Amino acid sequence: MLPSEYKIMHDFETNYWWYVALHELIISKINKKSQKILDAGCGTGRLLELLSKHQSEGFDFSEEALEFCKSKGLNNVWLQDINTWQSEPKYDVIISADVICSTGIDDYKSILKNFYQALNLDGILILNLPAFEILRRNHDKAVFVGKRFRLNEIKNSLKDSGFTIKFATYRLFPLFFVILFEKFHQKIFRKTEVKSDLRSIPKFVNAFFLLTNRIENFIFRFVNNPFLGSSVFIVVEKI
Ligand SMILES: C[S@@+](CC[C@H](N)C(=O)[O-])C[C@H]1O[C@@H](n2cnc3c(N)ncnc32)[C@H](O)[C@@H]1O
Repeated sequence: MLPSEYKIMHDFETNYWWYVALHELIISKINKKSQKILDAGCGTGRLLELLSKHQSEGFDFSEEALEFCKSKGLNNVWLQDINTWQSEPKYDVIISADVICSTGIDDYKSILKNFYQALNLDGILILNLPAFEILRRNHDKAVFVGKRFRLNEIKNSLKDSGFTIKFATYRLFPLFFVILFEKFHQKIFRKTEVKSDLRSIPKFVNAFFLLTNRIENFIFRFVNNPFLGSSVFIVVEKI
């Protein structure tokens, strides 16, 4: 990510609807009894803060990101490139949100195999990833998205790594159309500024988007969405 984006992430991740809805969905998939949790590519640390009741830890390859983690009082974080990370089986949950899609990821499939290796039996991996190449825009340049995924593609890679799929869906269905509109708007008006989409919005707009995403999260208790969305969200298990 551009260095300036870490401060933006730190400033937004506590209250901005996008982060709040994602973190609530992730936490809803974690068994309260899970002991050891890893956030692989933890960014500026909000999720680790929320998981502090567990034995949670995280790594990131950005010193800026880790500085923000430390400013939150998180000492369970370390500097690590995910491309070279490996661990013996010791985690009950591994979370990796929007990391293996980054430019600079050498081979995401070998990272999935390393996740598998690092999990205890019955352990779960939770992934969130950007979806659909057609949604690629200036935002992706600012946060260094190298690959946007299709649901079946990542499901197949996870199965090849040995995982059993527990839950797999596209999410942020309405945002798919908003982003598509924004992308063509950027093209037509030749907007080339490389900056993420994160920007201050009025509180009521934030509350409205949060509500729509909470409704979507609630619907995921009953059905998944195999069709469209701006992200893919997957929970897989090592059986
Ligand atoms: C879009 S941010 C997501 C951060 C966090 N997972 C979240 O959901 O808020 C992507 C994060 O992945 C980290 N990252 C990208 N490539 C990495 C790599 N090769 N090794 C470790 N971390 C990496 C970036 O530094 C950044 O913090």
